[in-house]
Amino acid sequence: MNNYENILTTFQNGITTITINRPTKLNALNKLTIKELHNAFEVANTDKNTKVIMVTGSGDKAFVAGADISEFADFDVKKGSKLAKKGQELVFNFVEDLSTPVIAAINGFALGGGLELAMACHFRVASDNAKMGLPEVSLGLIPGYGGTQRLPQLIGKGRAMELIMTASMIDANKALNYGLVNHVTTQDELLPFCESIATKITHNSSVAISAAIKSINANFKDGVDGFDIEIKAFGKSFGTEDFIEGTTAFLQKRKANFPGK
Ligand code: COA
Repeated sequence: MNNYENILTTFQNGITTITINRPTKLNALNKLTIKELHNAFEVANTDKNTKVIMVTGSGDKAFVAGADISEFADFDVKKGSKLAKKGQELVFNFVEDLSTPVIAAINGFALGGGLELAMACHFRVASDNAKMGLPEVSLGLIPGYGGTQRLPQLIGKGRAMELIMTASMIDANKALNYGLVNHVTTQDELLPFCESIATKITHNSSVAISAAIKSINANFKDGVDGFDIEIKAFGKSFGTEDFIEGTTAFLQKRKANFPGK
């Protein structure tokens, strides 16, 4: 499935960029977009040449303005539960657990499922026009794509409670101040800036980075001892070709050229 209807993918210099492309609907996540996103993330993650994945929205107005509300019209309890479960499996938990780093380039509104997608990514950069929030309670719903879990992880419980209860939006600078995004740029600079971070990442060991993602994520998984995961992953690193190359290059005072194995 590479002929997508609602997303675009490009590849350059080790970076795959996935662009959600429904600008007239502010890139809202309908069923098909969720399916296509799953496929595109899976393809990029298994592509040996892709060292970093970036995700952004098309147009200059929105990253993603949420789940597609027009699909909710005939929903009941069963359909609602299925939507959240399937979505979390296919995209949100899936993205968080990818072994390839994923950067969200938030280029405008990131609301509801849009902010939830950005929060499932490994880190976030926003342009100065971005607005973020989880406004579901204004629709009589709650966030269903992991928002009640990831927002408090990222900004703290009290701030998450307030943002969710008030259904309000915060701007890019407040998001920076809250630690929800790592950097704020102008709109024009957003993608080049994300690419410059991604390029730095591509120079490092992809095997070690995957192990680091897994160990960091373990900190947030119930019933998992993150320290134990880290010890095992640290030990395993010594058995990789990347370790041999990294240490040899250091001792030979040259830049490492990691085989990614
Ligand atoms: N689902 C479906 N369609 C959406 C959407 C969503 N989450 N967000 C925006 N759209 C559509 C609008 O219906 C409109 O379509 P139309 O031109 O066919 O009527 C189009 O995108 C443009 O949006 P519009 O509301 O006209 O833009 P705006 O600049 O006036 O307002 C927002 C922008 C983001 C404030 C507003 O679109 C909004 O509140 N969206 C919903 C956000 C939300 O509650 N998300 C959580 C969903 S669970």
